[in-house]
This record gives sequence, C-alpha cells and structure tokens, in this order.
Amino acid sequence: QAPLRIGVAGLGNVGATLVRILQKDGAELTRKLGRQLQVVAVAARSRSRDRGIDISGLEWFDDPVALAKWDGIDLFVELIGGEDGPAFAAVKAALEIGRPVVTANKALLAKHGVILAKMAEEAGAQLGFEAAVAGGIPVIKTLREGLGSARIAKVFGIMNGTCNYILTRMGNEGISFADCLKDAQALGYAEADPTFDVEGFDTAHKLSILATLCFGYEIAPDRMRIEGISRITQHDIQVAADLGYKIKLLGIAERTENGIEQRVHPTFVPKGSAIAGVDGVMNAVALETDHVHELLLAGPGAGGPPTASSVLSDILDIARGTRVPPLGVPSAELMPYHEAPMRAH
Ligand code: HSE
Repeated sequence: QAPLRIGVAGLGNVGATLVRILQKDGAELTRKLGRQLQVVAVAARSRSRDRGIDISGLEWFDDPVALAKWDGIDLFVELIGGEDGPAFAAVKAALEIGRPVVTANKALLAKHGVILAKMAEEAGAQLGFEAAVAGGIPVIKTLREGLGSARIAKVFGIMNGTCNYILTRMGNEGISFADCLKDAQALGYAEADPTFDVEGFDTAHKLSILATLCFGYEIAPDRMRIEGISRITQHDIQVAADLGYKIKLLGIAERTENGIEQRVHPTFVPKGSAIAGVDGVMNAVALETDHVHELLLAGPGAGGPPTASSVLSDILDIARGTRVPPLGVPSAELMPYHEAPMRAH
C-alpha cells in the first residue's frame, strides 16, 4: 500500500512531539499497520527554532493554507490552535478538496465544529479530533463508536489538566496559585494564553464539543455559565477539606425539562468519590446514560505525549481506512437553553 503522506501545521509542544513519535516509531508503526506513515511537510512560524526534531528533509511551508492544499500530502494535521485565523482557513481548505483532517483544536471546533463536520461529510473526508477533548483519553471514540444506542442524560468532568494540576498542588502542598501555574506552563500543560485555562474557557470549549456530540445539537460555548479557578484561595480549599470535600473545576452538561443546561465552575466534590480521586494533570469524563448508568473515563488530560498519542490514533484510523460513523451533524437549530444556576454537583 502507498505510504500515507502527512502534513503537519503547527510545531508547538504537541506538533513537535507528534513528529518525534512518527520519526522514532515509524518502522514499528509501519510493521503494525502494513502501511508507512510519512511526515513529508510541515508549516510553522519559525523554521530555525530548536524543537529537538529534524525537519531538514521535510518540505517547509510558511503558510498553513498552502500546506493544507498541497498535492504532496494525503492527510492534513492542524496543531496551530486558535478559533479563527490560519487554523480555520487551513482546515476548511483541506476539507474543501476532500482531504482528511486531524486536529487537536478545541477552540476551533467549539466555534466552527458543526460547519466543519458538515463540510467533511459532504466531501466524504474524515475529520478526526480525538485530541481536542481530555488529552490522551479516547472519549470522542467512546461517544462516536462505543455507546451503541444509549441515550445520554448527562456528561460532566474535569477537562482542563492545568486547573486540576493547580488545584491538586494547592491542596496537597500549600503552594500558591501563581507558582503552580508557572510549573504547569513549564510542563507544557497550559495554553499559550493561560487565561483560557484558569478562567474556564478551555473547559467550556471541550464541554460544548462533548455536549454537541452527546445531545445532537449545536450548543454554543458563549451561552454557558463559566467561572474559572483564579479566585480560589488556600482558605477555600481548606474549608472544603474540613467539610469533607475537594474543589474541582467541572464542566457539566445535562438534559433538563427546560433544555440542555451547561455550566463550568469550581465545584465541591465529596472526598472518596471517583471524580475526587482524579488528581494532578489527569482528566476524567463521566457519562450518565440510560443503559450504562455511569461511565467514568480517566487519564492524562494535557501535555505533549498524551495529546500527540490521541492525534496519532486518529491518524492510524485514517491510514487503515477505518470508516468511523458519521458525526450526524446536529441540527442548526439551537436546543432551548436554560441559564444554569451555580450549584453543587
Ligand atoms: N491547556 C489544556 C489543559 C491542554 O491544561 O487541559 C489540553 O487541552
């Protein structure tokens, strides 16, 4: 079988890790797949920056849209980030010519996911986005392929590794919010602008992607109650602990009599509950369905290797020609939305 020629746009933490894995494990992946995976081209802002990978033999593009359209690739991987701008233009350009796309861009999908999914379905191209929600946890696959006909009543969880890392260390070690955030940035967990993490917007992006998949409606993140963790103090954490709780930043979406209710806010969770045991950079997504009752998926939620591993799982599906079920593009009509009060989980 002909090699799968891959173009990667964006060589930040995740992009560089992905190229490294493909270069290092290429031979083993080829043996397993029976098909060679070849990164043949990259696009990024700086060609000379040291990323610990060798890009000298690869085709270089300054413009990700030009890479997305280049006929030397079979698959376009978007790891640029940002809800509009070059990421949106490049993904659209690839889908328009029926080229499969893999992206980890939650902000992009939260804003334009429905239109992009529609384009992908019309063009018969795959759009993989496993890495966009909860880093290394295969939650999108579970939702799209693993739940059969189960009707989902509620989805909730810890969806931002940076915030969970900060809350965990503030609680366990008494370290200040600012110092924990600095460490999370140094470890490659945080967004380029960490306001997205600590003010809850990143969780809101991920929650709106999950809610759209769970409930079959487009649910805009700007119609969500959002509160982050930047005002949480050691005192709050101590009071919670004295009462038998931990504080976690949860994203919660559920069907109610009034429509879909969505909220993101710091939440008291009882110590000893499964979700309270999810610490550090770990994420967890809980699904409540009529058949399975409650399913909890937990694992590393941020950082280069787990996120790149989810990107790779989408790439492998495309290389194998696996037809994942269509996204079932949701109705453009918005589900009646109920302004959620902040309350205990
Ligand atoms: N900044 C994100 C987080 C990265 O901390 O969860 C993974 O999406």
